[in-house]
Amino acid sequence: MNGTDPQELIAGWREAIDRWLGQAIAGREDLPSPLREAMAHPLMAGGKRLRPLLVMAACRACGGDEDAARAPALAVEMIHTYSLVHDDLPAMDDDDLRRGQPTTHVVYGEAMAVLAGDALHTLAFETLAEAPLPPERITRLVLTLARAAGAGGMAGGQALDLEAEGAASVSEEQVARIHRLKTGALLAASHRMGAEAAGAEPAVVDEIEAIGGVIGLAFQIQDDVLDMTASTEELGKTAGKDAAAGKATWTAAVGLDEARRRARELLGQALSRIEALPGATAPLARLARLAIDRSK
Ligand code: IPE
Ligand code: IPE
Ligand code: MG
Ligand code: MG
Ligand code: MG
Repeated sequence: MNGTDPQELIAGWREAIDRWLGQAIAGREDLPSPLREAMAHPLMAGGKRLRPLLVMAACRACGGDEDAARAPALAVEMIHTYSLVHDDLPAMDDDDLRRGQPTTHVVYGEAMAVLAGDALHTLAFETLAEAPLPPERITRLVLTLARAAGAGGMAGGQALDLEAEGAASVSEEQVARIHRLKTGALLAASHRMGAEAAGAEPAVVDEIEAIGGVIGLAFQIQDDVLDMTASTEELGKTAGKDAAAGKATWTAAVGLDEARRRARELLGQALSRIEALPGATAPLARLARLAIDRSK
């Protein structure tokens, strides 16, 4: 994990994140069973770990070390995993496959899946509150994550997504709003928390967050593209569900080719803004590319 090759750094961070996540749940034998298993099941099933990797890379770009990034990295992956558990519930997208595994409600039942999501949500903030960081940095991190996960961010976006389901037509503006909230907010917050954990200057924190928002929008556009073009095996979640459910996707608003073009255009914007940042930004640039140039 000490090299400076971005690919090696990212691979090392990915291993560390998986190890730390395992410790956060496996080390908690005090937690009641089967709730602990229902939390560990989705969390340890894998996933790209994009959000915690963005925290690590943003922190590094701002001169912070891995110890500073650890708690916000874990916290954002816990929030993201909780959002997936709830997103897959029958009351929401009704999916039975996630990260290549049966979804949490399929294995543990709906009530336990609701509770696993609730518990991962609160564990994220417990993790942040206990971070070995100066108290004022912890306060900022808590605020950033709470805003991004709440009604003005992910949860609000999920509400808009459900409300738009089955609409006869959707505009690009409408889908952009849904995507910025349900997905962009948490990616922007990942960037912001990395910079905040490092104690970066406010102007740098704001710019890194804004770049995360651009990547977040492009990431969800690519998620919509992959739902149409990739296989269930590749994705580890059921392909082709969006059109079947009448979801407000970028592809529904503007078509597949234009959606692909837009994702690339946003990636280009993000990369040129990353290049203009001071600091060790190669891992950030590599992750931006991985967020869009992906097949799962
Ligand atoms: C899936 O996110 C949900 C969206 C916001 C599109 P990811 O594609 O990052 O899922 P994992 O974490 O790799 O499983
Ligand atoms: C989910 O969007 C965004 C979340 C906040 C979980 P999707 O519903 O498109 O995510 P997938 O395709 O099920 O992963
Ligand atoms: Mg959804
Ligand atoms: Mg879904
Ligand atoms: Mg999707």
